[in-house]
Amino acid sequence: MQTDPTPQAQAQPQRIGVPRETFPLEKRVATVPDVVEKLIKLGFTVSVESGAGDAANFSDEAYRAAGAEVLPDAAALWAASDIVFKVRPPSEGEVGLMREGGTLIDFIWPAQNPQLMEQLAARKATVLAIDCLPRTLSRAQKMDALTSTAGVSGYRAVIEAANAFGRFFNGQITAAGKVPPAKVFIAGAGVAGLAAIGTAANLGAVVRANDTRAEVADQVKSLGGEFVKVDYEEEGSGGGGYAKVMSEGFQAAQRQMYATEAKNADIIITTALIPGKPAPKLITAEMVQSMKPGSVIVDMAAEQGGNCELTVPGEAVVRHGVTIVGYTDLASRLAKQSSTLYATNLLRLTEELCKAKDGRAVVNMEDDAIRGLTVVKDGAITWPAPPLKAAPVPAPKAAAPVAEKKSAHGPGEPMSGKTLTIVFAVLAVLFWAIGAHAPVAFLSHFTVFVLACFIGYMVVWNVTPALHTPLMSVTNAISSIIAIGALVQIAPPEAGANGRPDGLIMWLAFAALVLTAVNMFGGFAVTRRMLAMFRK
Ligand code: NAI
Repeated sequence: MQTDPTPQAQAQPQRIGVPRETFPLEKRVATVPDVVEKLIKLGFTVSVESGAGDAANFSDEAYRAAGAEVLPDAAALWAASDIVFKVRPPSEGEVGLMREGGTLIDFIWPAQNPQLMEQLAARKATVLAIDCLPRTLSRAQKMDALTSTAGVSGYRAVIEAANAFGRFFNGQITAAGKVPPAKVFIAGAGVAGLAAIGTAANLGAVVRANDTRAEVADQVKSLGGEFVKVDYEEEGSGGGGYAKVMSEGFQAAQRQMYATEAKNADIIITTALIPGKPAPKLITAEMVQSMKPGSVIVDMAAEQGGNCELTVPGEAVVRHGVTIVGYTDLASRLAKQSSTLYATNLLRLTEELCKAKDGRAVVNMEDDAIRGLTVVKDGAITWPAPPLKAAPVPAPKAAAPVAEKKSAHGPGEPMSGKTLTIVFAVLAVLFWAIGAHAPVAFLSHFTVFVLACFIGYMVVWNVTPALHTPLMSVTNAISSIIAIGALVQIAPPEAGANGRPDGLIMWLAFAALVLTAVNMFGGFAVTRRMLAMFRK
């Protein structure tokens, strides 16, 4: 990695090396053939260890065709590479193979791996830990490997649940009987939880979800889930979009709610994590016992100790008739997908490091995103990075807007008791004046008009906005009551002496009847189809 490039160094492009992952069960690879081509366009040369992509279905041949050199073993690969791309933190043996002063871009988890940090520093390395990216910087999102990995894992968790679950996810009506949809409860609606909600809802399950951060409720809804709130007021955000450890009172209320959800759910997927803390225990042994036999729990927090008391990390076990999946390699189980996304995240990072496109990476410690990632620089430990310069804090939504609201009465907002009394008093005086002076014929029409306004208001305002369109179509159908007018014209009471209506009027009335029938039956049919979209 260059910090002060000499003209001679500038002439030499750097070599990016991608070794085969050695961690047990790891199938991912840090770059893929499509990305190799783009790294070469940035001016780098690329080497890949033979067999590095095999488990993710990328052959040596494909890497060669993309322009990479395939090296026979790890020792040759590490020795030849100026910059190494990896997925799992390196083992002690791999650090030993690393070139002195070399660069490593990888998941490192510095807080959990202090010894590894010392070893890397001793190699005079420069290390960019992809897990330390300041994710809240919008510029950093394209490099956010944590998000891409969590998205893949959330999807895979649902697939694992479906695999262990003995029923359909979607409700079905078959000749053999009605099948109810599976009920899925998701604990924690971060990136992985939201991916799981979307996947389970798309498969047709009824999805409910909870998170300590109330701000995710809308995201849960937008993905087809229902947000279940804990009946306890406490702010769950610990800053930077992450959660905090909740108070005892909150935890007790949450346990009560989870106990009810566990009894009803067929599948529970837990994703709850708090940075730097063990995973909160949300599903107790009693809750597992209360679940129906054949139910499934997928504990995505297994690696951090698990959200369920009975999880065995890395294994799928059956307890009280419930399958508890504690796999810690969910992203690796979709190796091709997660490798492709990870490789793209690293490509975006390389573009940031090599703005000159000259095959030389420059670690600019003045850049917030790069500073956050850099945990070791030329042998000096630089983790943790100083906190990001705080973005301007938006003014708290306090008393002033409330006062405004009181006088504004936006649609759907209740009036204060005082205003309501004044409105009623004015209306009462108005009606008395009309009743005392208006002609009798007008009064009967006026009464119908006032009642219609009242009923219309109550109907429209008490129906969820999402159902307004079906409400309009059903109202349209009901308005076909005007058919009575046409019927009266076909056989009017004052019909001619022969008891038959005038021919032209009769045909006009008949046409009106046909058109009204279209309105009536069409309106009901459209309503039915629209309501079907809301039914599970
Ligand atoms: P995570 O993996 O650390 O946590 C997963 C979820 O568990 C979080 O939503 C958290 O609130 C929840 N949780 C923690 N304790 C819980 C408990 N006791 N009960 C129920 N739920 C609990 O978080 P992840 O998925 O890595 O990111 C969390 C959030 O970070 C995202 O939803 C987003 O708001 C923010 N983020 C922002 C980004 C950006 O601004 N570009 C990028 C990525 C994430």
